[in-house]
Amino acid sequence: MTSPVRVIVVGAGCRGEIYSKFASVHPERMEVVGVADPRKFARSKLQQQHRIVDDNVFDDWHSIVEREKFADAVLICTPDRLHKEPAVAFAKKGYHILLEKPMATTAEDCMAIVEACTQSGVILSVGHVLRYDPTIHKIKELIVAGVIGDVVHIQHLEPVGFYHFAHSFVRGNWRNEAESSFVLLAKSCHDIDLIHDWAGARRCVRLSSFGSVSHFRKDNKPTGAADRCLDCSIERDCPYSARKIYLDRVKQGHTGWPVSVICPSSLPDIESVTEALRTGPYGRCVYECDNDVCSNQVVNMEFEGGLTAGLSMVAFTKEICKRKTTIYGSKGELSYDGHEVCVFDFLTQRSTKHTAHENTPWQFGMSGHGGADYHLMDAFISAVANKDPSLIRSGPAETLQSHLLVFEAERSRLEGRVVYCGDAGQS
Ligand SMILES: NC(=O)c1ccc[n+]([C@@H]2O[C@H](COP(=O)([O-])OP(=O)(O)OC[C@H]3O[C@@H](n4cnc5c(N)ncnc54)[C@H](O)[C@@H]3O)[C@@H](O)[C@H]2O)c1
Repeated sequence: MTSPVRVIVVGAGCRGEIYSKFASVHPERMEVVGVADPRKFARSKLQQQHRIVDDNVFDDWHSIVEREKFADAVLICTPDRLHKEPAVAFAKKGYHILLEKPMATTAEDCMAIVEACTQSGVILSVGHVLRYDPTIHKIKELIVAGVIGDVVHIQHLEPVGFYHFAHSFVRGNWRNEAESSFVLLAKSCHDIDLIHDWAGARRCVRLSSFGSVSHFRKDNKPTGAADRCLDCSIERDCPYSARKIYLDRVKQGHTGWPVSVICPSSLPDIESVTEALRTGPYGRCVYECDNDVCSNQVVNMEFEGGLTAGLSMVAFTKEICKRKTTIYGSKGELSYDGHEVCVFDFLTQRSTKHTAHENTPWQFGMSGHGGADYHLMDAFISAVANKDPSLIRSGPAETLQSHLLVFEAERSRLEGRVVYCGDAGQS
């Protein structure tokens, strides 16, 4: 029997904790041997869950790099602006890397990460979890099998969800570009990556993008609204009220996401959630935040050979992140409603439904992107154990290409013009 892959968790927040569950499900395949996080509560929780020895618990990732290498791989789950430095440093130390998306917040930093991993010969997997969602992967399999012929047009919707958007992109960690990144990178890099993959990773020739912050602005604050929901006399009529999003949920016994995120140094209960809403960022009126990331954005793309694609990202939806896609091919139309894939064949005029075998352990069910997090870890740990990067669907080359498209699309939005990819001067 081979020994388990030894991993260190860098950033023991939501993502670090979820990925490390793989060790609890498959202790024979993965062992968590170290953790770094400046938050004592977070690192102690992970230390207890995985019985990590005291010597391998750190309050910052630099301390790990200073030590001799003591694991096979690192899971880098730090905030967006803290990806490049640790990724390059751990690559140079010879650690295989699972790096959360976005790879980094500038194109130059993304390229530096890929360069460092290539030079050191380490495996790099980026947290593009949707590539590992069994049903979404089915779309790719059907395209490759030629079921809809040549792909001609892709129409893709990313519905973020009204309270998810208020939580993450108005009040929370991804609300402000200077502190994290622009929303197309923070959220829709998954979607541009899927579109790029469905287009057969062919070159995008030109693209355009539009978007802005709608609704969640000070000028939309209702008369009589307070600066905090707990003090607000009209919060009953507000769908974004923090009372509804957090306090009502915890009162009903729901302590998972998003409630779990808002108490950084304790487990969530009625007292700690009330305190967080009284004093922390998540209790703020959505019309009184320092948010500046787009709430709705479109990207139009033209790929080599004339394939066109349109992405819409919108905050104001009932569905939470359940993408909807239609792919139009020369022989048929493929549609995905967030649950199943259906193909209409032009010749037979018949529709066929396709489902995927999920086979996901319950530990990853609710908060693990519908099981995709489990499959991403499964692939990463297998790749490291077998020294076989081909098992990874979100490897360096393609991921870099799709990230570069995201930066180009944002450039188009900011400059208000069509961008010819790879050509900074032409419009
Ligand atoms: N793949 C996905 O679909 C997906 C989903 C959500 C978030 N993310 C990405 O994952 C990353 C983490 O997000 P999260 O939701 O877990 O955030 P989080 O805030 O819950 O966790 C980040 C952790 O990093 C820690 N940290 C900060 N500085 C550190 C340092 N110097 N050394 C070690 N740890 C440090 C923080 O204390 C925190 O506990 C972000 O880049 C985010 O964009 C990806």
